[in-house]
Amino acid sequence: MNAPLAPQTIYLADYQVPAYLVKTVDLHFDLDPAQTLVSSKLEMMRNPAGQGGALKLDGEQLQLHSVTLNGQRLSEAEYDCTDSRLVIDSLPDEFTLEIVTEIQPDQNTALEGLYHSGQILCTQCEAEGFRRITYYPDRPDVLAVFTVTLTADKAQWPIMLSNGNQVASGEFEDGRHWVCWHDPHPKPAYLFALVAGDLYCQQDSFTTMSGRQVTLQIFVDPENKAKCDHALLSLKQAMQWDEQAFGREYDLDIFMIVAVNDFNMGAMENKGLNIFNAACVLASPETATDDDFYTIQSIVGHEYFHNWSGNRVTCRDWFQLSLKEGFTVMRDQSFSADLNSAAVQRIDDVDMLRRMQFAEDAGPMAHPVRPDSYMEISNFYTVTIYEKGAEVVRMLKTLAGDAGFRRGTDLYFARHDGQAVTTDDFVSAIEEANDLDLAQFQRWYTQAGTPELTVECNYNQAEKTLTVTLQQSCPATPGQPEKQPFLIPVAVGLIGEQGQSLPLQLTDETQPIDGDTRVLLLTENQQNFTFINLPERPKLSVLRGFSAPVKLTQQRDNAELAFMMANDSDSFNRWDAGQTLFINILLALIAEYQSGSTLVVPELLTDQLAAILDNASVEPALTARMLTLPSENYLAAQMAVADVDAIHAVRSFVKRSLAVTLKIRFENLYQQLHQIKPYEFNAADLAQRSLKNTCLSYLMTLTEPVQVERCLAQMAQANNMTDLLAGLRLIVDVDGPQRQQALESFYQQWQHDRQVVDKWLTVQALSTLPGTLTNIKSLMQHPAFSLKNPNNVRALIGQFCRNNPSQFHARDGSGYQFLAEQIIALDKLNPQVAARQLGAFNSWRRYNADRQKQMQAALQMIADKSDLSPDVYEIVSKYLA
Ligand code: ARG
Ligand code: ZN
Repeated sequence: MNAPLAPQTIYLADYQVPAYLVKTVDLHFDLDPAQTLVSSKLEMMRNPAGQGGALKLDGEQLQLHSVTLNGQRLSEAEYDCTDSRLVIDSLPDEFTLEIVTEIQPDQNTALEGLYHSGQILCTQCEAEGFRRITYYPDRPDVLAVFTVTLTADKAQWPIMLSNGNQVASGEFEDGRHWVCWHDPHPKPAYLFALVAGDLYCQQDSFTTMSGRQVTLQIFVDPENKAKCDHALLSLKQAMQWDEQAFGREYDLDIFMIVAVNDFNMGAMENKGLNIFNAACVLASPETATDDDFYTIQSIVGHEYFHNWSGNRVTCRDWFQLSLKEGFTVMRDQSFSADLNSAAVQRIDDVDMLRRMQFAEDAGPMAHPVRPDSYMEISNFYTVTIYEKGAEVVRMLKTLAGDAGFRRGTDLYFARHDGQAVTTDDFVSAIEEANDLDLAQFQRWYTQAGTPELTVECNYNQAEKTLTVTLQQSCPATPGQPEKQPFLIPVAVGLIGEQGQSLPLQLTDETQPIDGDTRVLLLTENQQNFTFINLPERPKLSVLRGFSAPVKLTQQRDNAELAFMMANDSDSFNRWDAGQTLFINILLALIAEYQSGSTLVVPELLTDQLAAILDNASVEPALTARMLTLPSENYLAAQMAVADVDAIHAVRSFVKRSLAVTLKIRFENLYQQLHQIKPYEFNAADLAQRSLKNTCLSYLMTLTEPVQVERCLAQMAQANNMTDLLAGLRLIVDVDGPQRQQALESFYQQWQHDRQVVDKWLTVQALSTLPGTLTNIKSLMQHPAFSLKNPNNVRALIGQFCRNNPSQFHARDGSGYQFLAEQIIALDKLNPQVAARQLGAFNSWRRYNADRQKQMQAALQMIADKSDLSPDVYEIVSKYLA
């Protein structure tokens, strides 16, 4: 084989309909981890809508045994087989093609296609993994009906699963057995899956809205059999929610979930057979935190919701990825909001969008929600496609209204059921069902970058009017120097001196609208909106609920922010005013720190926090968020030149100062919330633990023995992982003998549990004490760590590089050097995971000259390797461009 050349760029503009279609696929697997034989029988036809030409099947890392056309074995001269394709010329309009290939699951460390994870054989085909199983038109717009027969040794592989319904099975005399699965729903190859292993099965059932009974099964390694309940409950909640919220009913007799330990992403929505990263499905109170429980509920929902948004209606090509991902994230966010606290869900979603997606939009990999080119599609499973895509769908809902949005999605599902479509088709359905004109709105799909929204208010006492001037612009991104104005829905409210909501009446309107919030539509670069009948000067609450994914600039002094924090009727904006206040104060103190001045935390901030703490009984989950300082990374993104050391020093100083002044309040609140009772996953208990552990994190900055004792006591008494891990995290950041002791006893207790051991690795990766990198290097030699396991890599290396800025950005460049070495080693094993880790360098141009030089050198060291995967090549070359 030749060394791969620089990978080709693929363009949306080059899209062509497939030349050939597949009517049915009949797959036979003779399963064995060392060598698996795959026989594929395809009933194919020329696509009447196609351009004609040869049949080109995709295939990678396959050993071709035979090609048979209409029963006639072809000689090697009758086809052309390269390392990525099988090409056959001069075919009739309809034909049967049989292909036999051999693959080696044991050798598959990339975890794409068929691979061996622990004692399980499983697949991951999205986006382009099916071509590592057999030669096939591996593109999402070729839909076929699959029948799959699995054969293997019965003792070792008693369970064998694939998509759809099991239709037949049998045994051979030599101890082997076979199972046949049939999926009646035509699907693209990326939704194919198979699983084999000796698995424990937990079963339940769900009765759909039309009264059909569906069998639900979760398959896990036997040691995990006590960790299935939460996922099963989440699945039933998701099935019911999708019926109520979107009118979507499940469409097979069985729905299966399988947990595997080695998985590149979170989970995969294969038709009827979802495969999950074990970390995203297994939970028990003793081993999983509240955050884990929460995430599992949302991912189980996400994958289930794909059954309609992704599977029944799929993507025409991979440029349309956000068609299914953006919409499905929006659906899982709404699901979580309905089942838990909508206010907290919104805050957490926006917080993550701003931290991650805004950084992506501001960096060298910035791309539109519907990109127009890529080298490696795996690199485009991004926060832009997923989370910004979800924001775009959410704006469509805002524009159409709740009922109108539902009309639109009903039309979309009815019109495109069984089809592979585009984001344009989605927008058209919303448009037509509501008689809207969304032509300008489409720019959200085609233009990259985070729009900047500036707001100015002018109150006219004599006229009793408030004129709101909205202005928008969007910075240049790679390949897009100029941007056209977006259609931005700006939700606003007005607040009076007493904190009351004021009427919302625009010029020319005869009366105010009902309710305390209304949506202004900004379509131009600049527009004025004048509110009337306002005898007192109101305060404007703008972008309520974060009605559009934009960066907001609004001149507000600390006093006004404090007022809004206390009085805004929109809970998101109350939180956001607090975050802005924190940021303003922190940035001002950072400037002081840089000029060598003494730091003083403004009394106004302490007073605000005191008020929040005194009021904590109201909404503890919101209170916990209100008390949380913006992260170091997010602060870095607010500075022209990110000063890692100043940010770390000032943020720590502010937190500690607040703890000193408010110590009694934090202690009292902690006492009040610290109750030992059986673990339950419900909104109230979650909120209580979250606020309690926030208090503890303030108290631990005091480095007083009594606080360390408190923390150790919490760990000793904990009956759940949330409280235990919260304690461990804090102890590990305090130098002293208790640190090593806590880590050791935690490991002793939990070494048998992979999910918990990953937490143990993360806690150490996030330590801000000196020596963290040295410790990480030695942990990489620990039996608990393998570079081949993506969860291990993310828990240790990923967490260190992304979420421990003061250590990763060490002045000597050791963090950068370390990451470069790991990426080079990982690329040989698993290109997708290697490419992901590069993300830690995304903002490298935003640091000072010294650090830029060091990060550039690290990137160059990677780029200089001659045999990079397309995954790593694409990102490293775009970062250096
Ligand atoms: N479609 C999956 C989801 O639910 C993501 C799988 C992508 N996997 C990959 N290796 N690119 O979001
Ligand atoms: Zn998804």
